[in-house]
Amino acid sequence: MKGLIKKTIKSPAPAKNKLQPTIIPRDEHTISRKMIHPNALKVLYRLHQAGYEAYLVGGCVRDLLLGRKPKDFDVATNARPEEIRGLFKNCRLIGKRFRLAHILFGRDIIEVATFRTHHENANEDHGKTHQGMIIRDNVYGSLEDDVMRRDFSINALYYNIADFSLVDYTQGMQDIKHNVLRMIGDPAKRFHEDPVRLIRAVRFSAKLNSCITPEMEEHLIKSSYLLQHVSPARLFQEILKFFQEGAALKTVELLRKYHLFEHLFPQTGALLHKMEYQNLIHFALENTDQRIKENKPISPAFLFSALLWPPLWEAFLLFEQQHLPAYPAFEKAIQSVLSAQCKQLAITRQLQISVREICLLQYRFTHRRGKQPYRLILHPRFRAAYDLMQLRAQAGEPIEELAHWWSQFYESTHEQREKMLRTVKQSSLHKKQRTKKSYPHKEKS
Ligand code: CTP
Repeated sequence: MKGLIKKTIKSPAPAKNKLQPTIIPRDEHTISRKMIHPNALKVLYRLHQAGYEAYLVGGCVRDLLLGRKPKDFDVATNARPEEIRGLFKNCRLIGKRFRLAHILFGRDIIEVATFRTHHENANEDHGKTHQGMIIRDNVYGSLEDDVMRRDFSINALYYNIADFSLVDYTQGMQDIKHNVLRMIGDPAKRFHEDPVRLIRAVRFSAKLNSCITPEMEEHLIKSSYLLQHVSPARLFQEILKFFQEGAALKTVELLRKYHLFEHLFPQTGALLHKMEYQNLIHFALENTDQRIKENKPISPAFLFSALLWPPLWEAFLLFEQQHLPAYPAFEKAIQSVLSAQCKQLAITRQLQISVREICLLQYRFTHRRGKQPYRLILHPRFRAAYDLMQLRAQAGEPIEELAHWWSQFYESTHEQREKMLRTVKQSSLHKKQRTKKSYPHKEKS
């Protein structure tokens, strides 16, 4: 972070009722045009030349200042969507509630948003009646309004293409320098406005290794219950994001610290006092973060299977106690855990199918006769299921022999496999003499 701010930044004295931004000139920050995607630059220049204000904003400015590669480049402007469309042939207007302009460059998209304001700031001209009813959801505002509706100070820095300066209304630059995550405005109020900010706070803190302000920390715990008001579809999208950012383990640790995890995964949350389950989830998240570090693809189905394995196993035991045979008990357990989980997170149909297959394979791995192991190895979910089995063994389930057998089988030649199949001692999902205390690995009888 050294050298990020080369000189001390002085803010002008604030005028009455109007916030004054800190302007950080080009020679006092580290963002150069070379770091900005050429397509984003094209869009910024075109808007500027047409007489509009044009800024890079949000995650890309934050990431450039932190020396990270931005995921995408977003532009904010005072041009209205129709005016933006008039400037770009390759423009599509999207969104019903908020009209956004997408400028298409082949598969690359630069998103351009007109400055917006909170609805409460809007008057009739801007989309609200005097009774407060929203008649149009595009509530345009000034740059200052646009800043104030953003979530965290580090996400509210604007790179001005007119003079390459940064416009900072919220001490975002200082917070980036000191690695602090600060909510813009009153955290309690902002969490109420949009409880997804609870998860975003944790996600950014984990991903950027930044310190949450004590004020926000206090409200993270107090406001955790608000997550129940967020649609399962939106929560699911948020969860997918942190799986893919290389800090899934840290994110889940923070979600647990702030009592958010149990709102997202209530069935799993209730079982994490058991060390084996905690270990399993820890290893699965760690493994995913490592794969991202190595630029390898990750599988949300694998992670969801690991996260849901604890309640699934407990449900299986319960159904078996009710005298259901093992396989139907296992299937019923998967079904009931997934449908309960979907009340919190709208897991897509396809992902549910994959989770089901990965979990069912845990059962099928205990069949080691005849052609069955050959069939399982060819199963499209074999690799994810195999990895889950290895992690279960590592986490403390008594399936070491089974997990070891499968890794040997996987790596062996055909002759060696045939020999292994002749000598295999059939394990089973059900261990009759299991004790309640031990991790309840069951072997099939
Ligand atoms: N934003 C916000 N509140 C939200 C969502 C988005 O204030 N609930 C603003 C922030 O300024 C944010 C920007 O919109 O920086 C872009 O949002 P998004 O793409 O979701 O996140 P990024 O900050 O770009 O971070 P990441 O790249 O890690 O997703």
